[in-house]
Amino acid sequence: MTRPMIKLTGISKSYHRPGEGELQVLKEVDFEVAEGEFVAILGPSGSGKSTLMNILGLLDTADSGEYELAGRNVSGMSAAELAKTRNSTIGFVFQQFHLLPRTTATENVELPLVYSHGQPGDARKRAIDALCRVGLEERLTHFSGELSGGQQQRVAIARALINNPAIILADEPTGNLDQVAGGQIMNLFRELNQAGSTILLITHDEQLAKKAGRMVTINDGCLSAGNQLRAGRDVYVQHDAAGASEPQSGVSA
Ligand SMILES: Nc1ncnc2c1ncn2[C@@H]1O[C@H](COP(=O)(O)OP(=O)(O)O)[C@@H](O)[C@H]1O
Ligand SMILES: [Mg+2]
Repeated sequence: MTRPMIKLTGISKSYHRPGEGELQVLKEVDFEVAEGEFVAILGPSGSGKSTLMNILGLLDTADSGEYELAGRNVSGMSAAELAKTRNSTIGFVFQQFHLLPRTTATENVELPLVYSHGQPGDARKRAIDALCRVGLEERLTHFSGELSGGQQQRVAIARALINNPAIILADEPTGNLDQVAGGQIMNLFRELNQAGSTILLITHDEQLAKKAGRMVTINDGCLSAGNQLRAGRDVYVQHDAAGASEPQSGVSA
């Protein structure tokens, strides 16, 4: 097995609402994502997907349990350490694209680098590279308002790639897209995964989840063991009860 990029052990989270008591949203979740995997978490609305994603993305903390991200235990980190780790390790993609409207695709993508490094020339080159990786080489100078929904989400994915994150976290990335554009975004994630990106995507759409390398379901805050759908890049698959494990490569159609 390649090294775990994400390792959760016994993660629980509750919300307290005045007059309504305690709502346990995540229940002793154990979960691993290996480096190079493309994993989908499938679950209905209200099952705890975004709560889990917020914890994975260091945007929120669990009540109990351990979380190791890229080999580091994040459970005891200060807010400043969490922010630094978040910026250097994770690329986020959301249902809303969160692009600046009167701003070009290139400027939207280079924004995280402008804030973190302040070297505009380098940022520009890397933004253009990232936009080429998502197939938008023809749209570099378009304002984001001039792009289709699917193209806007590609810009957001390029922005997520710009810091070379260890993992991409995508929360319902196709939720604002029609079926065709949504399928194209899933194909793009598969290409990025083949090129080396580790991707964790959450969705309520089973057809989309099945395009990932592995699918895990979440129901009422409990995670299932999950199904291997296809071998991803460098992912080892357990074949049989005899325990023979061998590397698989390539993607089946
Ligand atoms: N900040 C919060 N305060 C109280 N309840 C919340 C909060 N965030 C989410 N919840 C509740 O937790 C449950 C899971 O929410 P969420 O993780 O957003 O689910 P999903 O993303 O799967 O739709 C829901 O019942 C939701 O109402
Ligand atoms: Mg959600």
